[in-house]
Amino acid sequence: MGQSVLDVGCGCAHLYALLASGVNPSVAYYLGVDDSPVMLAFCGEAFPEGRFQFADIYTLSSVGTFDTVCCLSVLLHLPDPWDKPIRELWDRTKKALVFNTLIDDANPRVEHMEDDLIYNVATESQVLEAAGRLPKVAKVESWATNADGSKGRELIFVRCLR
Ligand SMILES: C[S@@+](CC[C@H](N)C(=O)[O-])C[C@H]1O[C@@H](n2cnc3c(N)ncnc32)[C@H](O)[C@@H]1O
Repeated sequence: MGQSVLDVGCGCAHLYALLASGVNPSVAYYLGVDDSPVMLAFCGEAFPEGRFQFADIYTLSSVGTFDTVCCLSVLLHLPDPWDKPIRELWDRTKKALVFNTLIDDANPRVEHMEDDLIYNVATESQVLEAAGRLPKVAKVESWATNADGSKGRELIFVRCLR
């Protein structure tokens, strides 16, 4: 039986497009959720065969549970990413939760942009401590890159395993 994936804050469905290209044939079921009707309309038009629906990261209980939950470049836009949203993601996770967010150990900060957009830049320890607080987490793995994927420490990826 194939793996199921929940993509929280799916945006323009980059992850769906990657999976649809066959990069991981073990994935049999994908659901993308977002709280932006604009993003969801885009996803529906671009990928009519895909499954996309409205959901807020703070209230995910109606979407069920999935083998893998991904939340990419979403927590960095939340004012309070470090417990409730990560716990909400974890409660949907049967096997593995993967998320990323911005880090800057020397200068953690919240930057306020136009249109109420924020960038919440954390320290690595804030992120890893939040992951470590998840109930019954068997293993927390992490790796850092620059935002453009090059070698560096702007973005931390975290994988939490049950
Ligand atoms: C920077 S985009 C990332 C999109 C995609 N995950 C990617 O990596 O390409 C952030 C996405 O998170 C969504 N988002 C922000 N706050 C959210 C919330 N509270 N619940 C669900 N989605 C949210 C936004 O609408 C947007 O589509």
